[in-house]
Amino acid sequence: DRLYILDCDTGVDDAMAIGYLLAEAPHSLTGVTTVFGNVDVQRASLNTRALLELGGRSDIPVHAGAATSLDGTFWGSGHRVHGENGLGGVQLAPPAGAAGAGESAPSYLVRMARENPGRVVIIAVGPLTNLAIALSMDPGIAELLAEIVIMGGAVRHPGNATPAAEANIWHDPEAAERVLRCGARVRLVPLDATMQQRLTGEEQAELAASGSRFAQVVAQAAEHYLDFYASVFPGRQCALHDPLVAALALEPALVTSEVTTTVEVQLAPGPARGQTVADLRGFYKGPVHREGQATSVVLETQTGFSRHLVEALKS
Ligand code: BDR
Ligand code: CA
Repeated sequence: DRLYILDCDTGVDDAMAIGYLLAEAPHSLTGVTTVFGNVDVQRASLNTRALLELGGRSDIPVHAGAATSLDGTFWGSGHRVHGENGLGGVQLAPPAGAAGAGESAPSYLVRMARENPGRVVIIAVGPLTNLAIALSMDPGIAELLAEIVIMGGAVRHPGNATPAAEANIWHDPEAAERVLRCGARVRLVPLDATMQQRLTGEEQAELAASGSRFAQVVAQAAEHYLDFYASVFPGRQCALHDPLVAALALEPALVTSEVTTTVEVQLAPGPARGQTVADLRGFYKGPVHREGQATSVVLETQTGFSRHLVEALKS
């Protein structure tokens, strides 16, 4: 039996991932770790705790992690997409419980991996800084983790943070490179897959009209996110990056096209910094996972994920 830890920078689609996991894996979502990204790390923790409380699960611990990338930068560019507070301006009641469990995100990740060998799945939907720090504290955890499932990168698809780079990788390319090289079983879910699964304005209205308070909050928070996506997609629809990745971590059968190959992160300064370069030529014939040589890259997933998400959030 697997234990899931969500590592997130709670923003709008991270909130959807939290809701999805509360509905679909209520007993195996063991903890949540937070990181800078869409918002600063304090705000990410506050949003996460408020959402868990809204979902009736303030028993799930939230461990705050990195406030900046490994090299000390934080560009703070998520507001345009996720709104000033990361939740499209929706004000939630401040969480009543204590402010975090007093153990940093990287220490928690190391401890959980050590205490539960072969069982921990990390669902990473923010910059990879917490995991990179955990791996430098204790490189041995790479082989103790069941799997690391990452929302990040863009292999054929253009970037979103920059023309070449996807936001989670772009926030901390060095951390991403370290995680991809760590030797754990890694599944990378890039924009190529996540941009294909979208929530529509009608589905947002369905969430708003449901009896679930969590679904109503997600619908409200999605307003700003849908406004942003009006510049990306025709009609009213937004990408479901983080909840899709949470779903794939629980249900790998949703993957319809995947390639195991080398993925390298562009680290050099310049326009391609943060780009994920996957060898899609079919030349890679090496082992599936060993010593960080290869990563499973998800290119496509079953269509219609938004229906699963809406049903889960309404439940
Ligand atoms: C990723 O970046 C963030 O804005 C989203 O929450 C998602 O994790 C998409 O590029
Ligand atoms: Ca995210």
